[in-house]
Amino acid sequence: MIKRLLSSEFPVIAYNRTSSKLDVLKEFGVTVAQSPKEVVQNSDCIILMLTNAAAIRELLLSESASDLNERTIIQMGTIAPQESRTLAQEIIFRGGEYLEAPVLGSIPEAEKGKLLVMVGGTENQFKKWSVLLQHFGTEPILIGEVGTAAALKLALNQLIASLTSSFALSLAFLECQGVDIEKFMGILRQSALYAPTFDKKLERMCEHNYDNPNFPTKHLLKDVNLFLQESESLNLMSNSLNGVQKILDKAIELGLADADYSALYSAITPKE
Ligand SMILES: NC(=O)c1ccc[n+]([C@@H]2O[C@H](COP(=O)([O-])OP(=O)(O)OC[C@H]3O[C@@H](n4cnc5c(N)ncnc54)[C@H](OP(=O)(O)O)[C@@H]3O)[C@@H](O)[C@H]2O)c1
Repeated sequence: MIKRLLSSEFPVIAYNRTSSKLDVLKEFGVTVAQSPKEVVQNSDCIILMLTNAAAIRELLLSESASDLNERTIIQMGTIAPQESRTLAQEIIFRGGEYLEAPVLGSIPEAEKGKLLVMVGGTENQFKKWSVLLQHFGTEPILIGEVGTAAALKLALNQLIASLTSSFALSLAFLECQGVDIEKFMGILRQSALYAPTFDKKLERMCEHNYDNPNFPTKHLLKDVNLFLQESESLNLMSNSLNGVQKILDKAIELGLADADYSALYSAITPKE
C-alpha cells in the first residue's frame, strides 16, 4: 500500500513495529520513522493498517503518541463497528479527525491499486481524502457514518467464512462418498449456487496446500468473532456462524493459524 503512494503527490513516512520489514521500502527512498510519535508529529494524515483494535490502541493512543491535534486518522484494518466508533470518539477527544476505510481484496489487489475501499465518515471527509484513497482502489465508496463501513466489511468476511466452510463440507462429503470432484464442479459451475471463490480454493483444499497465504486462518477467525459479538448485541440468530467458528478454532488447533484460510478444509476432513 505504501508503494502505491510512491508515485503520488503524497510524501510518505512509514512506521512498523518490526522495523526490518520496512528495509525493502528504504530501497524505494521511503522515509522510515523510529516511533509512532515521530509519524504523528510529521504527518497531516495517518493511515493505519494494523491487525486489530488492540494494536491500534497500543500504537496510536499510548502516552507517547496521544496528541492528535489537527491530524486525520484513516483506519483501514478490519475491526468491529463499535470499536471503530469508540476510536473515533477518543481521537476527536485528542483533537484529531477519524474515518474508517476497510478494504475487500488482498495482497494482489493492494499491489495493483484494485482494493475495494469502503469509507465510513462524513461527506466532507470523503471528498477531502478520496484522492488519497484512490491510490489503493480506483473507486472508494462512501457507505455512511463511522461504523457503517466496518459493518459492511464484517458482513463480507462473514460470507467468506460461511461460503468457504460450506464448500469445504460438500467437497469433503463427496470425497468420502467416492464422487468424482470434477463432475461435482462441472454441475456447480453451471448453477446459481456457484461462487468464483470455490474455484480459487479448490486446488488448495484437494492438495491440503495452504502455503503463502494472502489472508490467514487467524484473521478470518478474528473477523468471525467480531461479527458474532456484534450480532449477539443485535439479537440476531447467528448460530450457523458459531459452527464455522468451531471449524476455524479446530484449524488453529491443527497449527494452521498462519496458513491460508482454506485450511478450514483440513479441520473438516483431517488428512490421514
Ligand atoms: N491480509 C489481507 O488479505 C487483508 C485483507 C483485507 C483486510 N485485512 C485486514 O487488514 C488488517 C491488516 O492485515 P494484515 O494481513 O497486514 O495483518 P498482519 O499481518 O497481522 O499485520 C498487521 C500489522 O499490525 C502490526 N501489529 C500487530 N499488533 C501490533 C501491536 N500490538 N503493536 C504494533 N503493531 C502491531 C504488525 O506489526 P509487525 O510487523 O511488527 O508484526 C503489522 O505491521 C487486519 O485487520 C486484517 O484483518 C487484511
